[in-house]
Amino acid sequence: MKLIASVLLAALVTTSLALENGLMRTPPMGWLAWERFRCNIDCKTDPQNCISEKLFMDMADRLAADSWRELGYVYVNIDDCWMAKERDSTGQLIPDPERFPSGIKALADYMHARGLKLGIYGDLGTHTCEGYPGTTLDRIEQDASTFAQWGVDMLKLDGCYSSAYQQAKGYPRMSSALNATGRPIAYSCSWPAYRGGLPPKVNYTLLANICNLWRNYGDIEDSWESVLSIVDWFSANQDVLQPVSGPGHWNDPDMLIIGNFGLSYEQSRSQMALWTVMAAPLFMSTDLRTISEQAREILQNKLMIKINQDPLGIQGRRILQEKCRIEVFLRPLSQSANALVFFSRRTDMPYRYTASLAHFNFTQDAVYEAQDVYSGQIITGLKAADNFTVVINPSGVVMWFVYPTTYLGQPASFVKQLPEARKFHPSAM
Ligand code: GLA
Repeated sequence: MKLIASVLLAALVTTSLALENGLMRTPPMGWLAWERFRCNIDCKTDPQNCISEKLFMDMADRLAADSWRELGYVYVNIDDCWMAKERDSTGQLIPDPERFPSGIKALADYMHARGLKLGIYGDLGTHTCEGYPGTTLDRIEQDASTFAQWGVDMLKLDGCYSSAYQQAKGYPRMSSALNATGRPIAYSCSWPAYRGGLPPKVNYTLLANICNLWRNYGDIEDSWESVLSIVDWFSANQDVLQPVSGPGHWNDPDMLIIGNFGLSYEQSRSQMALWTVMAAPLFMSTDLRTISEQAREILQNKLMIKINQDPLGIQGRRILQEKCRIEVFLRPLSQSANALVFFSRRTDMPYRYTASLAHFNFTQDAVYEAQDVYSGQIITGLKAADNFTVVINPSGVVMWFVYPTTYLGQPASFVKQLPEARKFHPSAM
């Protein structure tokens, strides 16, 4: 009897912990205020760029009018500094009345009327990172229900001013509280970023059960150095990180900074390609009102987005670091396709990199076609053993979408799940 009771209890606890919102089967896409607009609350001197409802409405208008929404960029996400400095008399979070005079519910309605979604920000601690009211453990249910009442679609829960203990209690508890509201609210957890991002301090199995995405590492800044430090950390730790990501639960290397000031054209193309092979959420943090045509083209590349949104949701890996300072990343995709990124760490001149698909473990049993994701150029009739050469600019990428067009016979390796299939390798091995 006792045993049955404890089994039942365990089952109940597991059920209530799991995030059963069915959301984000592919990496989420949208816009997030933080990297570009930070905590600019000075609406008197800078009304166009301060954190106010106008900023989010402006971005929503652009997403709807400039073909972003149709490509999948649907989340419009508020970050820190939206709140009034104090809760109201009932203890409820309220937006700053001067900067958000219509309230958050009206802003959510504005998004929904345009086929978009609204994301909001909270912090599991005494204060947010910028000093606004936090969601301490005793406030979790109340804040979850406030967000649901407002019609919010996503919550980023930050971790400033909270202890390891409070995080261990609070992140799962918010997951249950969001579930309990009955409104599907996607849940982004900053928890691992506050615990060093790696086991044993971080339990990714648990995270995948309770969060739709999570920040693993430090904040992105508007510089190439910052992008590189993120790519380096994710690649160095890919054995831990790659297997824990999948439909409904993603690693988040932070926002796209394409369109801002810190990246060259080549570097912008690299960030987009690398985030895409990492199956990363695509949250742009840039001014969509003034974005250049060049940056927009990178962010609106259809084949790139198709690869990012591949339904298998397998995160890619860095598979090679060549002596010539070319790195190769591979992401297996549905229908035996693969994405390959040739990334130059060089700083001299365009490099002619020669390799074959066999060098990356593609099976010899097929003939392939490769489409260059940026130029659109197609190479046909490529056998695994054939040498090819790509020209990669300094700090740039060449990215290929590779798929088999002909199978040479039907070798057993296509139909059988060989033990090797559990290792990481191109799809049509
Ligand atoms: C932390 C987060 C950032 C951003 C700021 C806001 O640093 O990691 O993404 O939300 O707080 O203050």
